[in-house]
Amino acid sequence: MIVDANLFVHIQKAALELKQGRLIGLPTETVYGLGADACNAQAVASIFNLKGRPSDHPLIVHIANKNGVHFFANNIPAFAQALMDTFWPGPLTLILNRHDDVAFAAAGGQASIGIRMPAHSVALAVLKEAAQLGVMGVAAPSANRFGRVSPTTAPHVQDELGEELLILDAGACPVGIESVIVDCTREHPVLLRLGMLTVDALSKACGQKVLMANELLSGAPKASGTLESHYAPRAKVCLFESQDLMLALQNQLANETGGLTIGVWSRTNPEVFEKLSADPSLKLGTIFLTMPDDAAHCAHTLFSTLRELDAQGVAQIWIERPPSSPDWAGILDRLERGAH
Ligand code: TXA
Ligand code: MG
Repeated sequence: MIVDANLFVHIQKAALELKQGRLIGLPTETVYGLGADACNAQAVASIFNLKGRPSDHPLIVHIANKNGVHFFANNIPAFAQALMDTFWPGPLTLILNRHDDVAFAAAGGQASIGIRMPAHSVALAVLKEAAQLGVMGVAAPSANRFGRVSPTTAPHVQDELGEELLILDAGACPVGIESVIVDCTREHPVLLRLGMLTVDALSKACGQKVLMANELLSGAPKASGTLESHYAPRAKVCLFESQDLMLALQNQLANETGGLTIGVWSRTNPEVFEKLSADPSLKLGTIFLTMPDDAAHCAHTLFSTLRELDAQGVAQIWIERPPSSPDWAGILDRLERGAH
């Protein structure tokens, strides 16, 4: 059931659901989460059930204020503290050493735990209300079925997980892709998942270079968001350089085999696409959408665009490869996994 997050009674209701061991759909600045009391093993088990996610994949625990981190984690290194001080509340998850006796199930049995303080007024309001009822943290993976595109609106969550779930509707998530994940359980910070904070900004804030997982000599822990195939819509996703996209389209037009409907999402040459889609002599099953040319705006619309094209029933989604500059890295990462 989708309810208006602007009404405080709905925030209270959501907090009570959490306290009573039930799940909620929760907006954050990144994507919508499927939340449960992080310290209630049964509630956490129902997250894994509803998502269809393997129970050894650890969840991220969301907290209402920075101090809450000490309830779940210990031996916090100075560079992790610096990251929290700079970016919390915000789209950054830290993997920290877990206290032995808390949130075993939420951590998927690992000795570490993922924690973040989200920068979303509704998420924070629910977390605060829940904390007053004794819920110290809310475990919340993205509210989609395992391996699928993360939801960025309340109706997306309902489409994924059904009518029964209480979903707080706060409109579209401002960031649009999931948080950056930095592993802080080693001597050096290690990037596990890209997002909308750049590696440079992270390194600057913590005073040392944040390493990429592939720069490590010994293996880094696997995050499911780092599986090669993830974030996949139903339609097959193909990435093209700008000219190759044009060539492929021209081929497609020349062949006109029919039947194959294609969704195109491209930044350059929108005029050409406009002309093509306005031409009545071309009976193409092709939908053209213009990709925003700044990274933040593009991330904000990324997952809803993939969902929209899926909903229109296209067989393939052809996407112009985004620029290779650091501010686009999180978007490129999601597109490459979606295309795998
Ligand atoms: O933006 C986000 O992070 C969203 C919103 C809802 O906060 N949440 C999210 O959760 O993306 P999820 O479960 O879809 O992705 C969490 C990722 C997974 O790849 C998981 O493997 C990794 O975090 N992770 C969580 N705890 C971990 C741990 N202790 N060690 C290694 N990886 C961990
Ligand atoms: Mg996810």
